[in-house]
Amino acid sequence: MRILVVGSGGREHALCWAIAASPLCEQLYCAPGNAGIAEQAECVAIAAADIDGLVAFARDQTIDFVVIGPEAPLVAGLADRLAAAEIPAFGPSAAAARLEGSKGFVKDLCAAHNIPTAAYIRTDDPDIAANWLAGQDYPVVIKADGLAAGKGVTIAETKQQAIAAIDEALRDRRFGDAGAELVLEEFLPGEELSFFALVDGRTALPLIGAQDHKRAHDGDTGPNTGGMGAYSPAPALTPALETEIMERIIQPTVRAMAAAGCPYRGVLYAGLILTADGPQLLEYNVRFGDPECQVLMMRLMSDILPALIATSDGMLENFHLRWRDQAALTVVMAAKGYPGDYRKGTEIKGLSGLAGGDDLQIFHAGTRRQGDRLLANGGRVLNITAQGASIAEAQRKAYAAIDRIDWPEGFCRRDIGWRALS
Ligand code: AMP
Ligand code: GLY
Repeated sequence: MRILVVGSGGREHALCWAIAASPLCEQLYCAPGNAGIAEQAECVAIAAADIDGLVAFARDQTIDFVVIGPEAPLVAGLADRLAAAEIPAFGPSAAAARLEGSKGFVKDLCAAHNIPTAAYIRTDDPDIAANWLAGQDYPVVIKADGLAAGKGVTIAETKQQAIAAIDEALRDRRFGDAGAELVLEEFLPGEELSFFALVDGRTALPLIGAQDHKRAHDGDTGPNTGGMGAYSPAPALTPALETEIMERIIQPTVRAMAAAGCPYRGVLYAGLILTADGPQLLEYNVRFGDPECQVLMMRLMSDILPALIATSDGMLENFHLRWRDQAALTVVMAAKGYPGDYRKGTEIKGLSGLAGGDDLQIFHAGTRRQGDRLLANGGRVLNITAQGASIAEAQRKAYAAIDRIDWPEGFCRRDIGWRALS
């Protein structure tokens, strides 16, 4: 098969690495890819947002299957455009991608189908918002309805902070149109958990647990990021909890989407919070988590390609995935300053000879090559991903590799996995 992967992050590098290992894969392209992906795939200079360019490339190159990594092209309708061109793809339609593209859509779906989630209102009116605030306990959570590159959520500790966040979104249009409508919701205390399932329109196949660390600095402090590291298994995800999440959250969502005429096909990533009343849904994502995908791919023993194709074909019933018993852990190396301002173009040395075995992979995120030199080209830059008999062993291997990397302008957290080890 001729496969095209869309995206350029660590998630897409892990997907390309797994797909390249499939005996079904004859030719692998990635648009636009990065310096690490170029070792597994032929990178083509088409941006993930360039829907016309991607569809034209897939048609001209007689691509058999497209795997769409990031949310933005899904929300913009890439899967629909490929379907219209009769090119099969992994990833939901735009209508189904509203599960990530509109937080208000998800909240209304939860309300209509009794899916546990925080109490909320949707509004585009500052006066209605102010009225709602008057009756609340604090903190409260203010969310831009649309895609805001991970920056659209504010946890307001006081009414003043809440009013400021509402004004910034509604009056100053801090998030542009994505914040023209808001979801205001109750704050739920508890431990967070990510949950992933492949969904083929009707059947949901849960994946193994993986957990990420969203804050920039050790001890889960500092600003929110896209994720500074991840590990699998996730000890918090017991079999009983998995059953409860499937029955109370995932399956009702899958049924509701099918009944609404927009069946969900792709990977469904639920951001959950474990409260005294059981798991509650914070948000959905319509893609693999990044960097959670890196540890999932490290532990996946089955060929990934048939699983992605079965998802797209509605054939997940009776499908099984096999996973390694080994644990996996990934540490993100980011450019100093991330998630704020950071420099691009600094040189990374010491990578050659580090990875390659079964137990260590370096998945690239923001990198590019200039001649023989490897340069940082983004905020999150490398994912040092190790496998071991335990999370502790995987952690030791990942940090031993990091200590051999020579990149003074980069940083990483030194405590990835701490929750699972404490
Ligand atoms: P979201 O993008 O909706 O997952 O929100 C980003 C982060 O904000 C989550 O990972 C949580 O840490 C936090 N968060 C969002 N909604 C709530 C809530 N209702 N209660 C507590 N924390 C929340
Ligand atoms: N690691 C969190 C995310 O992919 O959204």
